[in-house]
Amino acid sequence: MNETEAEEKGRKAALKPLEQTTLADMDVIECPYHTYKKLREEAPVNRDPVTGFFTVTCYADVQKALRDTSTFSSRVGKLMTPPDASSKLEDHGGYPAVDTLLTVDPPKHKFYRTPINKVFSGARVEQMAPYIQQIIDELIDALITDGKCEFVSQFATLLPLTIIADQLGVPRSDIPTFKLWSDAHALQLSGLATREQRLAASKLILEYQKYFAGVIEEKRASPTDDIISDLVRAPMENGATMDTPELLSVISQLLVAGNETTASTLSKGILLLIEHPGQMQLLLNDLMLVENLSEEILRFEAPVQGLFRITTCDTSLGGVFMPKESAVMLMFASANRDETQFAAGETFDVRRKNAATHMSFGQGTHFCLGAMLARKELNMAFKSILTRMKNIRLAPGHAHPNHEPSMILRGLKELHITFDPVQTASPA
Ligand code: HEM
Repeated sequence: MNETEAEEKGRKAALKPLEQTTLADMDVIECPYHTYKKLREEAPVNRDPVTGFFTVTCYADVQKALRDTSTFSSRVGKLMTPPDASSKLEDHGGYPAVDTLLTVDPPKHKFYRTPINKVFSGARVEQMAPYIQQIIDELIDALITDGKCEFVSQFATLLPLTIIADQLGVPRSDIPTFKLWSDAHALQLSGLATREQRLAASKLILEYQKYFAGVIEEKRASPTDDIISDLVRAPMENGATMDTPELLSVISQLLVAGNETTASTLSKGILLLIEHPGQMQLLLNDLMLVENLSEEILRFEAPVQGLFRITTCDTSLGGVFMPKESAVMLMFASANRDETQFAAGETFDVRRKNAATHMSFGQGTHFCLGAMLARKELNMAFKSILTRMKNIRLAPGHAHPNHEPSMILRGLKELHITFDPVQTASPA
């Protein structure tokens, strides 16, 4: 589907009457912003007619729900686990899926979050800067002379995956397998997977568990300088250390939460700059704008379009009644374009003053643990790309890139680009 077709279908989907407007429509998934706008204007809190979830699309309502963790609970494990007894991991020699971090509420949340916060602190990320630059340089060196690349697989996916593999203390040669495992975890989040896809994903998750249970045992026996060694020893608030199912849950979150999201921000960012040559020129004239560029990309194209909460009691939001145990989808991507928070919210503007108040890292208790690492990777990568690749454009003969079919994660399937290489050292 080319860009105009996708845009046209997205626009048409938003013209349907409200009772037929659903975020599960494939035309909406490819181009959701017309539908988000319609929902913000007509039904900011709405019951989706196909999925049955409540969708929350305005900034103030999303913020209110994120802050009220006792009413809007993150214990959404049930929604993510395949509703199929045969795919229970422990029946196949695996470990039970347990709730940690993303899927637990306060006060238990703090047990997991406190020890891991240290691992991803600002100071640690700052120390990592020369190492991150080295990986960026290696990835660009590997493709620069060709003057063209498939940006998603040759750069955007590899940067965060390499960094997380190194940080976890596992060999880079296993990266292609991590990608499969990360995709399998992400598929459970897509909201659209078929039973066959979910079963195939369960098999991969079993492999993931076996591999990392082995690594966990190794690091317990002889710790080295990496995250898994830190995590196996980290005392939680109650003094205990995490058991293997808990560690597997945390590591899977580090894999999925950090990879797909950073990769899609990188690829969408390059596509947005190609589509907005005036904005590209502003960046080329002043590379100091790069930090705001990363924020504006995150605002404009939230990699996590929305996430679930479950109501713990009968409640109401935006004047809409929600019974206890309702599934509620907080749409970060729509909140990010709410005109009450962002003037001309549908415009991509790298000089936007309040771009960083976007919701793309969430807010409050579950605010993204890896936000500092992600921001560092994005800023350094965009700076190097804009310095070493000039005249970036879409490669001829390739259709306009489409998105992965997911209601939650918005990533490009592929992005073929060409550019004029500059064989210089990277920016300092
Ligand atoms: C552009 C990149 C990223 C985006 C857009 C992103 C987005 C998010 C969002 C929206 C949440 C909040 C979830 C909620 O409220 O339920 C979150 C939480 C989280 N993120 Fe990120 N993330 C990114 C990068 C990373 C990285 C690099 C890591 C680690 C390597 C990471 C690890 C996590 C973890 C572990 C949580 C759960 C925190 C908690 O529940 O306390 N993320 N992220």
